[in-house]
Amino acid sequence: MGLEGSHMNEQNKIRIGILFGGRSGEHEVSLMSARSVLSVLDPQKYAVTQIGITHDGQWFSGDQALEALSTGNTAALTRVTLLPEPGDNTLYAIRETGQGTQLEPLTELDVVFPVLHGSFGEDGTLQGLLEMAGLAYIGAGVLGSAVCMDKALFKDLLIAHNLPTPTYRVFPRGVVENQIDHVIEQVEEIGEYPLFVKPANMGSSVGVSKVNGRSDLMEGLLDACRFDRRILVEKGINAREIEVSVLGNDQPQASIPGEIVPSREFYSYEAKYVDDRSELLIPAPLDPEALQFIRELAVRVYQVADCAGMSRVDFLVDKDTGEVYVNEVNTIPGFTKISMYPKLWDASGLPYSKLVDRLVELAFERKAERDQTEYQYGRIE
Ligand SMILES: Nc1ncnc2c1ncn2[C@@H]1O[C@H](COP(=O)(O)OP(=O)(O)O)[C@@H](O)[C@H]1O
Ligand SMILES: [Mg+2]
Repeated sequence: MGLEGSHMNEQNKIRIGILFGGRSGEHEVSLMSARSVLSVLDPQKYAVTQIGITHDGQWFSGDQALEALSTGNTAALTRVTLLPEPGDNTLYAIRETGQGTQLEPLTELDVVFPVLHGSFGEDGTLQGLLEMAGLAYIGAGVLGSAVCMDKALFKDLLIAHNLPTPTYRVFPRGVVENQIDHVIEQVEEIGEYPLFVKPANMGSSVGVSKVNGRSDLMEGLLDACRFDRRILVEKGINAREIEVSVLGNDQPQASIPGEIVPSREFYSYEAKYVDDRSELLIPAPLDPEALQFIRELAVRVYQVADCAGMSRVDFLVDKDTGEVYVNEVNTIPGFTKISMYPKLWDASGLPYSKLVDRLVELAFERKAERDQTEYQYGRIE
């Protein structure tokens, strides 16, 4: 039996679970991404199970799960769960009966696509559950997901590999709150203002601020403290923002780079989601050598961060010097049809629906590869 054959049910369809919503601030962005994914899955090829995760973290399934999560009315859906043990790939319905709560097998899943952004979706926690359950899934594993979600650790990794990133310092929230003079002293060693302040673990530019002096800095630090217990301050680059889509497991490929032209002073939450006037330029108008350099750097970053399946690698290119800095990696980038990740692939010759097919194949390949690992060497029976 071929690789695909082993993952198909009797109707020769791949049983795919699409996970969306979730507990992070990017719940609504996830619903938009999932709407695009669901619209392109070929019903001849895939048997689709929609699984919506509410803001509170409950899992619900049903053919109308996406609509139900959008309206907040989950009454007609079935609560579902996975068991943290490998074997049968079963999604269970949670039923309240006269005898108490019971689990009833609902469907089997060959592969899961977590279309979830941010905490509890993109940060390795969900990936841990899927690993425990022995399921194939799209995207980076526990390690890559966690490393890319933590901006501080991610930058340490870049530095260890001699990859360029703006100079930075990291402070625990307690130090920001109780030793502000010490923090200011350390921060001003980074260099001249403007600086950028950000929570180590967030997304969508929440808690990110550009600061032009001490009073701004204090305000920015306190704001960032709301969103994480570790705060990063980094050198502000007068930057063009270049993004590259990377796809693959052990031999990742980079798309042509694109450029974001933010509608505001930087690519803030408002510029991303509120005023809808930021522009995407595809390909990024850079010279061929710079484009090639950035593509190669994107692949290198993807590899050192142990990414798999897909990731979008974001760069800051200094407008004055042309210097290229790695900003961050998103392991589950925005995935609507008009999002940068799929648009860059489309422009590179891989249309949206083919991209999803390829991600599914990569998920199976990665699972098969991981299944070759021995976990119980030397166990005495
Ligand atoms: N060091 C920096 N120099 C210049 N702009 C920055 C810097 N860091 C962040 N930014 C701006 O802030 C935006 C959001 O920061 P980012 O680190 O990408 O966080 P998020 O994960 O929330 O997208 C970036 O897209 C960019 O516009
Ligand atoms: Mg970003």
